[in-house]
Amino acid sequence: MKHLVKQIAEKSRNDFPLFNGNNNNLIYLDHAATSQKPKEVIDSLEKYYSSQNANVHRGAHQLSAIATEKFEHSRKLTANFINSNNEKEIIFTRNATEAINLVAYTWGNYQLQENDEILISLMEHHSNIVPWQLIAKAKKCKLIFIKVNKNGELDLDDFRKKLNDKTKLVSVVHVSNTLGCSNPIEDITDLAHQKGSLVFLDACQSLAHKPVDVKKLGIDFLAGSSHKLCGPTGVGFLWAKEEILEKMPPFLGGGEMIHEVFEDQSTWADLPHKFEAGTPAIGEAIGMGTAINYLQSIGLQAIHNYEKELTKYLFEKLAEINHLKILGPNPLLQPDRGPLATFYIKGIHSNDIAELLDNSNICIRSGHHCCQPLHRFYGIKSTARASLSFISTPSEIDSLTEELKSIISFLKKNS
Ligand SMILES: Cc1ncc(COP(=O)(O)O)c(C=O)c1O
Repeated sequence: MKHLVKQIAEKSRNDFPLFNGNNNNLIYLDHAATSQKPKEVIDSLEKYYSSQNANVHRGAHQLSAIATEKFEHSRKLTANFINSNNEKEIIFTRNATEAINLVAYTWGNYQLQENDEILISLMEHHSNIVPWQLIAKAKKCKLIFIKVNKNGELDLDDFRKKLNDKTKLVSVVHVSNTLGCSNPIEDITDLAHQKGSLVFLDACQSLAHKPVDVKKLGIDFLAGSSHKLCGPTGVGFLWAKEEILEKMPPFLGGGEMIHEVFEDQSTWADLPHKFEAGTPAIGEAIGMGTAINYLQSIGLQAIHNYEKELTKYLFEKLAEINHLKILGPNPLLQPDRGPLATFYIKGIHSNDIAELLDNSNICIRSGHHCCQPLHRFYGIKSTARASLSFISTPSEIDSLTEELKSIISFLKKNS
């Protein structure tokens, strides 16, 4: 692993201003919540707001033409990133949550009938549960949950049992933000399509960690968030097949999304603008394009290879700690899993662990990670999560485990 640490983590770390100067000693192990931003992305935001700021698709002036060109170029980069060869299939949204809501409200409203079924899994983030609950209720449909198996993976047998002719949509996470498991999307898509169901992929936790190819996966929809990809907050995207988007009614109404407006009715702009009402997050969308370029310059496969080794090391080190239990599959069982470990220690609240680690400059996440149904399934309210990225290092993992050992012995002695 040593040469990968040098080639990937140590080399890239210098690109992130947060770790320079005052934050030299910061150990950031919360990349699944949001990624840190490289200088290139920060510079691209600064450049847009200081020398290119104009509204897009409207002005006759040069500044607007430049902003439009940069904004649309970012759409092309996003399409290329997930191997869609048609940038009309990329809809900019505020985040992945909005992308999921967009499909639930528009596709769901026109396509779902009473008694239809939507299949999601128990490990979904609330963003991939609540929009489906709302539309299922409105359209009198059933929302059905696929179980998690004893290894903390999606139970494919249970999926097979629950999938049927009434299933109209399967919406699952690619890599779980809590279990870290990587779901067998190609199998899911094959089976779902045989029953005439579409497949939505929540790719929030995979896009920055491994190559994601919408054609290879065979999916119909995908949601992603820029801030998990080293990009700015406030922007994300929906990808969907053009023929599906063409049939979907608009989501929000207003400027930008219309072709013509009359007093009694309106007609819609062509894709992708039909789904982009109002002034978008222009600088942020441009910044997302810069972030994608940045990740691609390191290489998604190289990132994946490094993070796989690092995840194995994280699990090995956490296994040294008495009483600590990890949710989700061990990397020896599922080498392709995501680079995070969610854990708990009976009798110790995960918030106490996170707060004491913070005293030593180590940032991890504690709580339910927006996965309450999954935590309920395990009979626990809260867990701690350490999540890695390509700038994480084995020595950060060593510091985490050493601190954890002393925190646990301190808390156990004082409980
Ligand atoms: C798996 C997963 N899905 C969806 C989301 C929601 O992303 P956002 O808040 O950027 O919309 C997250 C964020 O944590 C996530 O991890």
